[in-house]
Amino acid sequence: MAFDSSPTLVSLAATHDVATVAVLADLSQLPVRDAVADLAVACLSLQDVDDLPGAVREAARVLVPGGRLCLAIVHPLNSAGRFAGDAPDSAFVLTGSYLDEYRYSDEVERDGLAMTFHSMHRPLEAYARALEDAGLLIETIREPAWPDAHHLTRGTGWDRVPMFCFVRAVRPR
Ligand SMILES: C[S@@+](CC[C@H](N)C(=O)[O-])C[C@H]1O[C@@H](n2cnc3c(N)ncnc32)[C@H](O)[C@@H]1O
Repeated sequence: MAFDSSPTLVSLAATHDVATVAVLADLSQLPVRDAVADLAVACLSLQDVDDLPGAVREAARVLVPGGRLCLAIVHPLNSAGRFAGDAPDSAFVLTGSYLDEYRYSDEVERDGLAMTFHSMHRPLEAYARALEDAGLLIETIREPAWPDAHHLTRGTGWDRVPMFCFVRAVRPR
């Protein structure tokens, strides 16, 4: 099952030929019984939820003992700053406080469609604490370099600064 709180995205997902069922739900109130899932995946959603501890607690609740939560988030370094210029060697500048939590928005345009993404900047520790408080143990953290060949980032500094952060955590047996 896949969950999203956006009715538009859930109904669009239902039109795709995929094996999973898309369900309208808040990640901090999953319509799922306790301890039924081997794997929970949160793909680029936890930096957008209002209630991070609640969403992680719910993921932990539905996992079986030994089950894992794999999550990808916008890297907190990315959301705390920006490159000073367009050159590949431009300085990356922290524009706000890394340690504080605050809302921010990104304006993106694709194929003439303008979109606004509303997110929360949270330091990495906020994610670690949410996992700890939910009883999950972090197994791995990865900060992948964005491939230089990618058309969105080619010739930029994103091979020096992590755009995303991946975490795998386990519910102990
Ligand atoms: C950046 S998009 C990622 C969408 C998708 N997971 C993907 O990887 O393409 C973030 C998604 O999180 C969803 N979202 C934000 N807060 C949520 C919440 N509290 N419960 C469920 N979904 C939420 C948004 O509706 C949005 O679709």
